[in-house]
Amino acid sequence: MLDNLDKIRQQFKEELNAINSKDELEKLRVAFLGKKGLVTEALKNLRNLSSDEKKIAGKEVNKLKHEIEEAIASYHKTLEEREYLKEIENAEHYDYTIPSSREAGTLHPITIVQKKIEDIFKTMGFIIEDGLEIQTEYNNFEAVNIPKNHPARDMQDTYYLENGQILKTHTSAAQNTIMKKYGAPKKGEPLKVLFPGRCFRNENLDASHENTFFQLEGMMIGDDISISNLIYFMKVLLSEVFERDVKVRLRPGFFPFVEPGFELDINCAICEGSGCSTCKQSGWIELLPCGMIHPNVLKMGGIDPDKYTGFAFGLGLTRLAMMKYNIKDIRLFNSGNLKQLKQFTR
Ligand code: DAH
Repeated sequence: MLDNLDKIRQQFKEELNAINSKDELEKLRVAFLGKKGLVTEALKNLRNLSSDEKKIAGKEVNKLKHEIEEAIASYHKTLEEREYLKEIENAEHYDYTIPSSREAGTLHPITIVQKKIEDIFKTMGFIIEDGLEIQTEYNNFEAVNIPKNHPARDMQDTYYLENGQILKTHTSAAQNTIMKKYGAPKKGEPLKVLFPGRCFRNENLDASHENTFFQLEGMMIGDDISISNLIYFMKVLLSEVFERDVKVRLRPGFFPFVEPGFELDINCAICEGSGCSTCKQSGWIELLPCGMIHPNVLKMGGIDPDKYTGFAFGLGLTRLAMMKYNIKDIRLFNSGNLKQLKQFTR
């Protein structure tokens, strides 16, 4: 019996060495461990032995069975590795040093300006948030102090969805959600958030009106935030975007979600303040609306207006990109006209 086991072991080793594929290996497994396999037969033959012999021989057969199982498993791995290496060897060679025949794409001009502003604000400790494009009426209007029947709703011709929700008409729609997400700021650690986004209004298209456009909004809320903070951040922002030291001025402006509200102007770079057709002879260009966040808006966002103040600004990102790149027709942005859009690289 024991001699026979040695023979089986020897035979297995020889046959295993000749194997080159997983199929062959499976056949070998069946030949030794299958129902009628040599090892299985040896196990069956144990019943012909005396009980003393059975003890010794039984142990040996089981040992052989394990040896074979392990050898098969490890050879299976070896074969898989071999197959993998072969695959790599046969794969088409890809030479990364050959210049591509395809032209590389470029970022969309709005993306370029957005990223630039995000980078500036990130260095000043702002968090970037992206609000939802489909919004509730509450977030878009009520939560920013525009109750039902308020005339300000008519100024934003809104797309309504069948389920009663709307496409956001301005990035201010995210204010309430952001305030609730971050809560009241800790002392000396104002909440600073920037939230760019795509907005939608039912406009008739022409060179200066689009139904789909981008805004970029920012908020800073803390226990000691004033209009001076607002002016400082706007000056840094605009100087970086226009790559010059811009002068800013504030004029009163009305928006239901800020009090006081302002229109912020920058000095005209073309005439340097003396008056030209670009600035309509005023020396100033109207650039962005902003203001101190209305106490009602803070309250609805769960922030106590008796303890905290904040500023907000809403930048027309699409308009800013038009100014920066001197683009005369807003419809270019959504036109898919790569030939023109590709000109703007930085
Ligand atoms: N949400 C306003 C709009 O789209 C823009 C705006 C004005 C945002 C003043 C502000 C702000 O944060 O303070 O017309």
